[in-house]
Amino acid sequence: MKIAERMLKLVIFTLFVSACARPQDLDTNRVLPLSQELFNVSDIKFEQIEAKPAPEIVNNDASYGYAVDFSLPTSLSQMKCLKSANYAAIFVRAFTPSGSGAFDTNSVATIRNAYSAGLGIEVYMTPQPISSLQGYQQFDLLYNGLVNNGITVRSIWIQVTSPVNWSKTVTTNINFINSIISRAQQHGLSVGIYTSQYDWNQITGNWVTAGSNLMLWYWNVYGPGVTGETPATFADFRAFGSFKQPSVKQYAQVESLCNLVVNRDVYAVGIPAAAAAATKTDLTNSKNIVVGGVIRQ
Ligand SMILES: *[C@@H]1O[C@H](CO)[C@@H](O)[C@H](O)[C@H]1NC(C)=O
Ligand SMILES: *[C@@H]1O[C@H](CO)[C@@H](O)[C@H](O)[C@H]1NC(C)=O
Repeated sequence: MKIAERMLKLVIFTLFVSACARPQDLDTNRVLPLSQELFNVSDIKFEQIEAKPAPEIVNNDASYGYAVDFSLPTSLSQMKCLKSANYAAIFVRAFTPSGSGAFDTNSVATIRNAYSAGLGIEVYMTPQPISSLQGYQQFDLLYNGLVNNGITVRSIWIQVTSPVNWSKTVTTNINFINSIISRAQQHGLSVGIYTSQYDWNQITGNWVTAGSNLMLWYWNVYGPGVTGETPATFADFRAFGSFKQPSVKQYAQVESLCNLVVNRDVYAVGIPAAAAAATKTDLTNSKNIVVGGVIRQ
């Protein structure tokens, strides 16, 4: 293999591994164009990803709650471990972009385990924008998947990251996202978007009329791991698109915690007593497990 080709493979390998380890591909934006045929899957060694332990949380500010988000299967002991490490909530992926996009069946056990462990639960959806299924059809798969497993859904977060995964035509993307939002709202759900200013600009052309009632979960890190963390506050937030204020921030990515690889988040608790009381009432009034409604705008 020629030296240049080897170098290129190494660079692509590194970027690909880091992209795979995270729910959004931080670096992908900067390395365009990245041609698919340059990949050789047998070169990719996932065991080389080593997530460093997450530091203990030190919460001096009662207006923030701590959460983690992840997409992999989990156990009850892992959920109990998160709870005892002072995390109040999880964001679990309930829709995977694989194939045409599908309900993530692993989410059911995670939701039940998290409920048993006393964690607040939010679900997010990584949709498949390049699919024969429209946005609302993908939402229906997610919604029915949860409901058919006895889970009541109050809110949904839609992942709008990794511009390379989306259409080059922003109108197509806006219509696709809008289709999910409208369907979710028809079901009475609150809707949040997981994105960043850069992603939102690349994918939607900085769509400003997405709706003032949408919640925002933005991410900002310098890179994966502890050294790439930004402060666990909203101090770095700047308004963009239709988002005037955030509800959640992802400030750390790809860290190990309770034998899981997670991203870490802070969310606005608002009036803590009121939020806790509301959650408790929701849970006791329903025989179903409730997901969503932990985070409010
Ligand atoms: C982007 O697409 C890749 C390949 O289909 C997928 O593995 C990844 O989860 C997608 N990421 C997002 C954020 O859509
Ligand atoms: C991919 O790498 C493997 C192992 O190095 C090699 O055997 C195979 O021929 C490569 N495939 C392509 C399409 O380059």
